Amino acid sequence: MRRPLVAGNWKMHGTRASVAELIKGLRHLALPAGIDVAVFPSCLHIAQVIAGLEGKAMAVGAQNCAVEPMQGALTGEVAPSQLADAGCRMVLVGHSERRQIMGERDEMISRKFAAAQSCGLVPVLCVGETLEQREAGKTIEVVGRQLGTVIEDLGVGAFASAIVAYEPVWAIGTGLTATPEQAQEVHAAIRAQLAAENGEVARKVRILYGGSVKAANAAELFRMPDIDGGLIGGASLNADEFGAICRAAGS
Ligand code: PGA
Repeated sequence: MRRPLVAGNWKMHGTRASVAELIKGLRHLALPAGIDVAVFPSCLHIAQVIAGLEGKAMAVGAQNCAVEPMQGALTGEVAPSQLADAGCRMVLVGHSERRQIMGERDEMISRKFAAAQSCGLVPVLCVGETLEQREAGKTIEVVGRQLGTVIEDLGVGAFASAIVAYEPVWAIGTGLTATPEQAQEVHAAIRAQLAAENGEVARKVRILYGGSVKAANAAELFRMPDIDGGLIGGASLNADEFGAICRAAGS
């Protein structure tokens, strides 16, 4: 059995004051047994969140990392080793906002994935198709290519200590959610692609769904056999809503 993970991606949100409020709300949550919970604040707030959540069973991760593992001359970037030193346990790589707005390509995302792992961080590889790609019937091909680059570059074994997040671009921040069946189809394809290389890795890897997940639709998504939790954007900024999503994963 895979242990569900509910992960909150705070994106470029938060001030010291609003983050303090959110921490307070998260500390009050009664989390269900048997699930993992993680939050991904902006880099600026990672130290505040790690300190604020001390003693609470919630991991903290970063939303991005440098392509090079170790600190050095790379202005404006944060090294995975620095994230690990700060107390991060995970890092998102290849979020669609970074692919689309920052122009990150599959090769760069593979490097970030490898750099993160070399520092002991668990990468959460985000994949997903645009609406145009879905409408052209290319969803499985696009997601397969995004996943395939990392498999080719690093080997399927890299997924023994990584997480995959399927996030259809058209569902992110739009209020449109993939139906449980649409999501399950892609999750199953991701698992099959990994299974073609290594059955055990495929069976054990957690595949999260992301894209307008909220308390009202979480349970039906999490019920699908290949959906092992969620990557939550907007709804993770509200502690009560996030708590309700965690409970849906625990039930
Ligand atoms: P959303 O974002 O839940 O606000 O749609 C999800 C994500 O981008 O990770």
